[in-house]
Amino acid sequence: MTVPTQYPKVTIVGAGNVGANAALLLLLKEVADVVLIDVVDGVARGKALDMMHMRSNEHFGPTIMGTGDYAETASSDIVVVTAGIPRKPGMTREDLLETNAGIVRSVLAGALPASPDALYLFVTNPLDVMVNLAYDLASLPPARLFGMGGVLDTARFISAIAAETNSQPADIEALVIGAHGEAMLPLPRLARVQGTPLSDLVDAAAIERIVQATVQGGAAVVDALKTGSAFYAPASSIAEMVSDMLNPCGRVLSVCARLEGQYGIEDVHMGVPAVLGRKGVERIVELPLNTEEIAELKNSAKSIKAQLADLLQVSGSRMR
Ligand code: LAC
Repeated sequence: MTVPTQYPKVTIVGAGNVGANAALLLLLKEVADVVLIDVVDGVARGKALDMMHMRSNEHFGPTIMGTGDYAETASSDIVVVTAGIPRKPGMTREDLLETNAGIVRSVLAGALPASPDALYLFVTNPLDVMVNLAYDLASLPPARLFGMGGVLDTARFISAIAAETNSQPADIEALVIGAHGEAMLPLPRLARVQGTPLSDLVDAAAIERIVQATVQGGAAVVDALKTGSAFYAPASSIAEMVSDMLNPCGRVLSVCARLEGQYGIEDVHMGVPAVLGRKGVERIVELPLNTEEIAELKNSAKSIKAQLADLLQVSGSRMR
């Protein structure tokens, strides 16, 4: 079965909880036809078939197919890479490094030849290092390869702000940038609720609670689930980014994108405010950050570069 082409074609690599739920949201929101691919091809085929059976109830236009064969992913507009092992309780995202690096390598070897012109969105953890590794391996223009971390962290930030201020997420403007990990940089100084600065609405202790709930949001889910990590909010964050690529609206999202001098940082992908569109990262936005915030970003950049260098040294061989 081939997927009809009236919708853009999005391949999702990895039919686990994140990949499958992202696929479902793209279908329900009628954003794209989806090819769900997994090394365990039966899981991809089964979940895709199950979602196709939803069409008679939900009446969405796009279709989905599941496969284990990259030939079916050919000429995708977007490839979303969710494949990788998730965190277990007590693990940091960095503990996943070597296993997931191997997975990213083999995904690129399969996906790139099939879709050389696609936009590549990486989700595999530890996110920042995986995106930088993928960039190093793939030889794609920086605008076409980027990662999802900040949209999820921002979703948690907004959720915590909404709880503390008793307001609606839709009324909140806020961003989390930097690394997708303990070193992430929520920006309470720039957050607004219905146009009012957050710091005018709550005290310093509340802001600290909000920041902690944001940074620990992923770990809190891991601790409760015991058998895996978060997937609904990650999947929804992927769907938001894919929607913005296919239906550009000029909105600023936190994207793990290549910095080439912005914020005084070069040659590394990390979470920064950016606008997505048909060409991928259309623009990186330079917010008026203070010296402390810039210093934190620079520290994260340094640490991501060091982790990538270690990884390349340990695992050596490149695909180029
Ligand atoms: C999280 C993982 C998916 O933040 O990175 O929940």
